[in-house]
Amino acid sequence: MRQIKFSKVDIIKNDLAKVNKVLKSGWLTHGKYTRLFEEEFKKFTGANYVTTVSSCTAGLHLIFLALGISKNDTVLVPAMSHVASAHAASYTGAKIKFADVDLETGNITLDQIKKNFDKSIKAIIVVHMSGIPVKEIKKIQNFCKKNKTFLVEDCAHAIGSKVNKQHVGNFGDAAAFSFYPTKQITAGEGGAVISNNKKLFDQIKKLKAFGIDTDIKDRKIPGLYNVKGLGYNFRMTDFQATLLYTQIKRYNPKLKKRIENAKIYENFLSDCKNINYSTFLDGNSYFIFQIFVDEKIRNNLIKKMVRNKIGCSIHYATPIPYFEYYKKSHNKRFKNAEKYANTNISLPVYPDLKKEQIRNISNFLIENLK
Ligand SMILES: Cc1ncc(COP(=O)(O)O)c(C=O)c1O
Repeated sequence: MRQIKFSKVDIIKNDLAKVNKVLKSGWLTHGKYTRLFEEEFKKFTGANYVTTVSSCTAGLHLIFLALGISKNDTVLVPAMSHVASAHAASYTGAKIKFADVDLETGNITLDQIKKNFDKSIKAIIVVHMSGIPVKEIKKIQNFCKKNKTFLVEDCAHAIGSKVNKQHVGNFGDAAAFSFYPTKQITAGEGGAVISNNKKLFDQIKKLKAFGIDTDIKDRKIPGLYNVKGLGYNFRMTDFQATLLYTQIKRYNPKLKKRIENAKIYENFLSDCKNINYSTFLDGNSYFIFQIFVDEKIRNNLIKKMVRNKIGCSIHYATPIPYFEYYKKSHNKRFKNAEKYANTNISLPVYPDLKKEQIRNISNFLIENLK
């Protein structure tokens, strides 16, 4: 079989010409494309406020800081996610409490939130795993309001994911997106924070750039500003923003193609009783097409796929509380997260993937799972 990549970056010649122009202009940060992308991402997500950041992890870190989360607080985190979801809260000194997830979607549930909730929990982070929007997000939002707990959305997988036509990231106090190379749009590294809370957003923007109180465009005298609190440098460059601007402008038809590709997989795999996948959900942006197979054969199957040049991955292979760093303080089992970790395989679903390639991957899986 000819090689099928796990993910494919959508950068074209025209984008490179624009990047070239930016590089030659001298405005490598704080430039025109950062503003253009932020405006475009505002339109795309429907959020009132958007700011670029150096990564999703940095964005989540800033959100927790701006919410005032500190060492006296606890943050509830799903046991199944990238370790960044827990790390970002840990940076503030807060304690982490983990909740188990739904076996089919890998997402946190209201039931698990209720089971684990106590008064020390000042924030809950939800993750829209593999692009599947958290179905109960409205109910979770209400629960958080009722219990005066902040809601943070980790949208690293979820560019284009929606619940009742509303883009995810708009249900919580703030949300962060990732533009890592495997993501739906990429700048190599990079992220964006969205929010509909002006006060919180202004604080995030301040923390993102050293705690400086005056935006570069608002300074009456260049170089004159004040710093009233500690801040970081979590900015993104303008040439990264250029790549994101061009990609987000042409993303809607690409998102449609991802969804079509997912339906093609379902069509090919529907008769194979040894492969499971989550039911088609409107609003899934299909960061990956995830399947679940018997845990006894999962790793061998992946080895075979690699030998046959079929790009694949695991999201994720280890529940966060099972990592050594977190295990010290969380010696407990999370049965669903554990099963999810041991059975999932992520398949490519990017827009350029041909029907023929999906057929080849599907046939390979069916043949090897007889
Ligand atoms: C769910 C989740 N959250 C956060 C991150 C961190 O994103 P970044 O690499 O942009 O910091 C990732 C990375 O892939 C992720 O999968």
